[in-house]
Amino acid sequence: MEQQSKTLRLSADRAEEIQTAGNLLKNGGLVAIPTETVYGLAANALDGRAVAAIFAAKGRPMDNPLIVHISQLDQWAALVSEIPPRAMELANRFWPGPLTIILPKSPLIPDEVSAGQATVAVRFPSHPVARAVIDAAGVPLAAPSANLSGSPSPTEAQHVLADLDGRIDAVLDGGPCRVGVESTVVTLAQEVPRLLRPGGITPEQLSQVLGRVEVDPAVMNPLAAGEKVLSPGMKYKHYSPKANVILVKGNLSAYLEYVNSRVEEGVFALCYDGEQEALRVPAVAYGAKQDAAGQARHLFDALRKLDQMDARVVYARSPQPKGVGLAVYNRLIRAAGFEVVELG
Ligand code: TXA
Ligand code: MG
Repeated sequence: MEQQSKTLRLSADRAEEIQTAGNLLKNGGLVAIPTETVYGLAANALDGRAVAAIFAAKGRPMDNPLIVHISQLDQWAALVSEIPPRAMELANRFWPGPLTIILPKSPLIPDEVSAGQATVAVRFPSHPVARAVIDAAGVPLAAPSANLSGSPSPTEAQHVLADLDGRIDAVLDGGPCRVGVESTVVTLAQEVPRLLRPGGITPEQLSQVLGRVEVDPAVMNPLAAGEKVLSPGMKYKHYSPKANVILVKGNLSAYLEYVNSRVEEGVFALCYDGEQEALRVPAVAYGAKQDAAGQARHLFDALRKLDQMDARVVYARSPQPKGVGLAVYNRLIRAAGFEVVELG
């Protein structure tokens, strides 16, 4: 019997290695690729068997649909039943970029991609390497984040390897991701557009094009037991390090007082830049207080670092849920399993 093959390390700096990634994908393989948001675990979106292998490698529940990635706007039409004018306006404004648009699907989309939904999520990434790989593969690529299901999304090639080494054919290293949290997901498959997942494109930016946009309640709140969701990904525990993360709401002095009275082995802080000195527990910073984009870029790496440091309990500074900060808040409150402490 052939031994399980090792995961190839490819560099996006070499054109021939991007082509190798494309060839692997063309032949039904799984390759982790960089995008501007997070690394994606890609497979040929039109090949149901290749797509099924993504779910196996990640340990992903089969009812959670995947995003299909394209490298040219004109590849979109074949994937959906029709492109309404407001969808095209959104695409013209924000593509290529960190926005995913859901529409009713075309018959070309295998059931493995849509996971039982009548719709398909499509994204046109801006990362030049992601686009070059799609071109090299010659097919649209289905790609969820390239992490084991439930753990923080990968923003560097080494995060991918930490989770998936030996389980996938290759990882294409294109350096760290610029945005750092996954794309904004909006559905246009219903009358009023609805934000299902906040990301690099803010609700305010969507409203400029779409007018009224509903924010799905699952963006901010835990689901009630048995509640039906529009975006199946929302119902799973997500972005979780091994540590027990607790979101702490309050000003800096209240936070410091709270954490500094809980000094114990395994207790850590996830704070803003420059706050470590005032803390009496080991701390990892995830960005400057007023810089939501910087927080988004560093959050997942910070969560992985806390695991490496064997953190048992993590008291996290709660981000402002505004603009891109809404995405940071959404990820962190899931990492915390909605456990929040409100300080007066
Ligand atoms: O930035 C991103 O979007 C990254 C990179 C790799 O492109 N991808 C990503 O994929 O985050 P994933 O699978 O981790 O998250 C996709 C989310 C899930 O919450 C899923 O439930 C939702 O999008 N989704 C996908 N297709 C859907 C559909 N047809 N209807 C509703 N939700 C859908
Ligand atoms: Mg994911």
